[in-house]
Amino acid sequence: MQQAKDVLIPLGTKNIDMVFKVSGRDGRLYQAYLGAKLVNIEEIGKLRDPGHIAYATYGTDNLFEPAIRMTHNDGNPSLELKYISHQVEKVDGDVSITHIRLKDPVYPVEVTLNFRTFADEDVIEQWVEIIHHESKPLTIFNYASSMLNFDANKYWLTQFHGDWAEEMRMQESELTSGIKIIDSKLGSRAHMYETPVFFLSLNGKSGENSGNVVAGTLGWSGNFQFLFEIDEKNSLRILSGINPFASEYSLQPGKSFITPSMIFTFSSLGKGLASRNLHHWALKYGIMDASKPRLTLLNNWETTGFNFDEKKLTDLIDDTKKMGLDLFLLDDGWFANKYPRNNDHAGLGDWQENTAKLPQGIGPLVKEAENVGVKFGIWIEPEMVNPKSELYEKHPDWILKLPNRPENYSRNQLVLDLTNPQVQAFVFDIVDGLLTKYPGIAFFKWDCNRMMTSAYSVYLKDNQSHLYIEYVRSLYSILEKLRQKYPHVPMMLCSGGGGRVDYGALRYFTEFWASDNTDPVERIYIQWGYSYFFPSIAVCNHITSWGKQSLKFRTDVAMMGKMGYDIQVKNFTENELKFSQNAIANYKRLSDIIWHGDLYRLISPYEENRAVLMYVNEAKSKAVLFAYTMNTRFGETFNRVLLQGLDPVKTYRIQEINLPPDGRNFNMENGRSYSGDYLMKTGLSVGFASPLTSTVLEISE
Ligand code: DGJ
Repeated sequence: MQQAKDVLIPLGTKNIDMVFKVSGRDGRLYQAYLGAKLVNIEEIGKLRDPGHIAYATYGTDNLFEPAIRMTHNDGNPSLELKYISHQVEKVDGDVSITHIRLKDPVYPVEVTLNFRTFADEDVIEQWVEIIHHESKPLTIFNYASSMLNFDANKYWLTQFHGDWAEEMRMQESELTSGIKIIDSKLGSRAHMYETPVFFLSLNGKSGENSGNVVAGTLGWSGNFQFLFEIDEKNSLRILSGINPFASEYSLQPGKSFITPSMIFTFSSLGKGLASRNLHHWALKYGIMDASKPRLTLLNNWETTGFNFDEKKLTDLIDDTKKMGLDLFLLDDGWFANKYPRNNDHAGLGDWQENTAKLPQGIGPLVKEAENVGVKFGIWIEPEMVNPKSELYEKHPDWILKLPNRPENYSRNQLVLDLTNPQVQAFVFDIVDGLLTKYPGIAFFKWDCNRMMTSAYSVYLKDNQSHLYIEYVRSLYSILEKLRQKYPHVPMMLCSGGGGRVDYGALRYFTEFWASDNTDPVERIYIQWGYSYFFPSIAVCNHITSWGKQSLKFRTDVAMMGKMGYDIQVKNFTENELKFSQNAIANYKRLSDIIWHGDLYRLISPYEENRAVLMYVNEAKSKAVLFAYTMNTRFGETFNRVLLQGLDPVKTYRIQEINLPPDGRNFNMENGRSYSGDYLMKTGLSVGFASPLTSTVLEISE
């Protein structure tokens, strides 16, 4: 019999090619190439070796970790996938979707690999759809969103880990043979101990501007897993997706199982370009309303905690105006009556205004905001319940807890069972109810302060292993419904600090709270970490009284993102107030560059005692540079910093901003003009050699 011909399936962006090959020999799909753009893709067809299997199954001849594993309803544990067809949908000039259909020759099981390519952004999004037509449900145990294969001499993995108040700590290590897993098992959130993001550098370590590197992140707000396996031939397989841990899924005939998206980019010019690719993608496609401006705000959490009344809040609303900020954000503590929310032990779940603190409800606050000309925002934590609450008393079966073991608390609370449609309606109604009663509410902070432990869903009955998956899907379906009704109300994603940071949720949210740790030195590292994968428009940074640094230092750090305040403005000296008002005005003038410009990380705090970065607008006519000196050793000198991203033939004027009110100009470059060429080749002296100092430079054509 004559062997069928190989078929090439190329998917490309401007600078990346990914090529699949259907082998005429065995009808299987192989990943033949992933990397920098090829001049002639057809050459991939000449390779005799088809490459690596594109989506490895279990039960036939695969000896390594499978992308997919299932047991058919006759008990047979094997799956084989052969190519059936593929189809390319051109969505517009930028976006195309390629669907590659695979099928088991023996069982009626189909698996479609889907790739959405973003040509201008050099980003690929991959997800998988699994469907079967067996007579009864089958069980799937593994269901990766993507499987990427690489052949290099060495592999360097950069991962990010942390905990409450220490998010996004960066670690880089060489992968060795065998398996390395980065995952989370927190249930209600992905990120906290491990973040669902990674860099994988091929051959040597990649730098900011050099090296071949893949940046990947999973759009899923629950348990995730990245599995890196190096085989006996030193090939690397990366499996990314929902964490299969304790999550075998019984799939009904004719029903699709759709995985979340794995989002990745490839850069042959290091991590800087990889970040910019992801930022470009996120600004256009990944984050809600990212092309629109954001609201600067004053929050009351750090200053009042749970202890406030109408007068205190009204004063804060007035301070919001006085500072020149856009919005006042009322945090936790405004609700519950039978068990008032006066601390974190009670009240969660009872979303009626607390009449002791706010006898007239929040109406007068919304009104006051309107009167003084600022907006009003409010905190909610709709997925949670305190045992000391009316909700707990009324609906014990709405709560995730084991029927026969003690309840297990974290922050004195439990998680609601979102898989139950009645609970979904309850959560929807919290937001809908507030917006219906107070159409003036212009912002939500949606918190989620705990992970799942001792979790059991009454609603899911015998399908407890669906809980981790269905919880997140239910959350998304509530958010989807809310977004249909309220498409543009800005919402901040928060999770006991930066616990829920992922592109699955950011489709519905405009921004996220990066960490409860607002000490600016800590914050430089935290924000630096997020900057690798998330654009600064989404990263909320507040000026608070954490840390002993000057107000200028704290302000300059918060400015490299979405700036806000959570501080007693009434305790400011006149100079501090003036400084802050001026900084807010500067921020408003420059925020479009910080939010939508290109980020260049110039000096890493992981390498020196300082951090320097800059944002440049698309026209390369304006840039903002932030330089922070954290610590200094005796006699330490700091070299000039080479700028990046400017137009070499343009002339730029350097102006130092956010100067203390005594009017002194600190930076020796202030007022000077240089060509972009000079600034990028000779550099600038930025910052100081004294600890805990900072400089912000506005660079204009
Ligand atoms: C945790 C958040 O990170 C804080 O900003 C604050 O909103 C508290 N929750 C309120 O309980």
